[in-house]
This record gives sequence, C-alpha cells and structure tokens, in this order.
Amino acid sequence: MKNFRILAAAVAGLAFAGLAHAAGGAKHPHAPEGGWPFEGPTGQYDMASVQRGYAVYKQVCSSCHSMKLLSYRNLGEEGGPFYDPAYPNPNDNPYVKALAAENEIVSPTPNDTGEFELRPATPADAFRSPFPNEAAARAANGGALPPDLSVITKARHGGASYVYSLLTGYPEFDSYEDRIIEENGETVYQTVIDMAKFEKLGEYKPHHGPAYLIQPAAQYYNPYMAGDTKPNYLGDPRHAPPGGFLAMGPQLTDGRIEYTDGTPATVDQMAKDVAQFLAWAGDPKLKARNEVGMATMIYLFILTILLWFSYKQIWRKVEH
Ligand code: HEC
Repeated sequence: MKNFRILAAAVAGLAFAGLAHAAGGAKHPHAPEGGWPFEGPTGQYDMASVQRGYAVYKQVCSSCHSMKLLSYRNLGEEGGPFYDPAYPNPNDNPYVKALAAENEIVSPTPNDTGEFELRPATPADAFRSPFPNEAAARAANGGALPPDLSVITKARHGGASYVYSLLTGYPEFDSYEDRIIEENGETVYQTVIDMAKFEKLGEYKPHHGPAYLIQPAAQYYNPYMAGDTKPNYLGDPRHAPPGGFLAMGPQLTDGRIEYTDGTPATVDQMAKDVAQFLAWAGDPKLKARNEVGMATMIYLFILTILLWFSYKQIWRKVEH
C-alpha cells in the first residue's frame, strides 16, 4: 500500500512536470556571442558600446520609450559613456551639452509670462519623454504602454541578455505570410508565421501537419516574450512554439542607423549596444562598486595573513 502511494505520487509528479514542459514557456534569454564584458567581479562596461547604444536608444527606441530616471548630465558623469576628465562637472562638458541640445523639451519651469515653452534640453534636464502622459503613449501604440527603459534590465529576468534576445529574436522576414481568409462571410486579413521557416528557434521544430502561427492584430510573435502561443497555433498544440505576443514589432534592421565610429550597424550589433547601454543606465556605479569590492578583498586577505602571524607571535610561549 505504502509503495503504491509513493509510486502514485511519483507518477503524478512526472505528469505535472510533463504539463509544465508542454506549456513551453518563453525561450531562455542568452547573451551575445562572447558574453558581456560587465559580468563577473571585475567586469566593466565597454564604453564604446555604451556610447553606440545611446545612439540606438536616441534614434530608434526614444520615439516610443521614455527613460525618466536619467538626465543628460548622467551621460557625462564619471562611469558614464561620455565622461571627460577635463570636465569633472558634466554640466560644463560641451559634448554632453550638444547631446542634450539635440532634444527639444517642454521646459519644466514656466517662463516670465507663466508659459511652459519648448526649448533645447540642457545637461541638467531629464531625458525627453516621447509622450506627455500614459494615455497618449497608449493611444499611439494600439493600447499598449511602452515601458520606461531606465531600469528595464533590472525589471526583467535575464536583464541585458533578455533585451538583446528579444530584439534579435523575432522571426526572419521571409517566415511571415499575409493571408486572406473568409470568416463568417467576412474577408479577414491575417499575418501568419510559417514555423518551419523560423530557423532561429534552433532546437524547436514543428512536428506534424501545417505549422502556422497566427499573429493577432497589432501583436507580434517573439519566442522570448512571456505568454502562450497555443490558442494561435495551427498545428499540434503539444508542439506550440515557445514565447508569446507583444505590441512591439521588430525594431532593428541592418543599417537602420549609422554609427559615427564606423562600426557596421547590424541588427546583432545594435541590439548588443543598446542592451549594454540599458545595463549601464540601470547600474551606472558598477565600475566603482567592483573596484571597491576588489580593494576590500585584497585588504582582507593581507589582514588575514598579518593576524595569523601576530597570533603565532603573541601565543608562541603558551602551551596549547
Ligand atoms: C514604435 C514604438 C516602439 C519602438 C520604436 C520601440 N518599442 Fe519597445 N515597446 C513598444 C511597446 C508598445 C511595448 C509594449 C509591448 C507590450 O507590452 O505588448 C514595448 C516593449 C518593450 C520592452 C518590454 C518587453 C517586455 O518584456 O514587456 C522592451 C525591453 C523594449 N520594448 C525595448 C525596446 C528597445 C531597446 C527599443 C529600441 C531598439 C524599442 N523597444 C523600440 C514600442 C516600441
């Protein structure tokens, strides 16, 4: 009897594990090839990449996403991508001033006649927000709210790797197909994804029969987005692809921006750079913290050795 119960529990456990597996979940995010330079106890940002990442944010992402916790001056602070030791106060840094001035903002304080006028930003201003409020942001994005990106690498499991994987994870363009179907006597336009052509999914393979995923209107499939694809999958539901749908379509295409340092702007490069920029934005003091951490470890190590020898010295005449 007892054995039977144990067996039953084991079978139930396995069945649950099987269900969890069938549900699939999202694909696990991964770092770019070669990993991130800022990981590990001595890790530091690749500042050239963070600089390029700012360009990607500014030219691509900032038309939808705010970064309210950042001011332009942060870019020129020690540990920031445009820090210049000649200008310890980033408000004086002409490069940071020029970067800020590229953005037209509504002045947070009124002028002499009580009006809030548009003016170029200064280093002291917060990053320009693309929309005046949440309602406007949703209205422009089919009801979805583009999240503020100030601390997005802290807010999502997988951090920079998640941002990188999400941006590069959309299906290849030739796996999308437009279809026109008749539904209840009405003509419906659909975008479907032919999962057999989606090579980036790697180990995932649609098993039997047709393997199309229907994208809901104004939604885009991404294997790294948390969600469930089963209701939209035309194929064996047990082999529904991982991931879910989100209201943000693919944003990066090769050459979408031009880097001033001459780096070729491939999708992979831009995703890597903007993810590293966002990692910096969410944790700008990483360098200082790692340096203090290292110094503390070395100090403690030397202290341990000194204490060991003084202990030997002090107790040397005592039997113990
Ligand atoms: C055209 C507008 C638009 C642009 C441009 C855009 N996004 Fe988005 N983004 C959105 C919207 C809308 C959402 C919310 C999607 C949802 O919740 O369904 C979103 C969501 C996200 C998310 C969160 C996904 C999640 O896990 O909830 C990240 C991260 C993100 N965007 C990063 C970026 C980056 C980085 C760029 C620049 C390369 C960028 N976005 C450009 C509209 C945009």
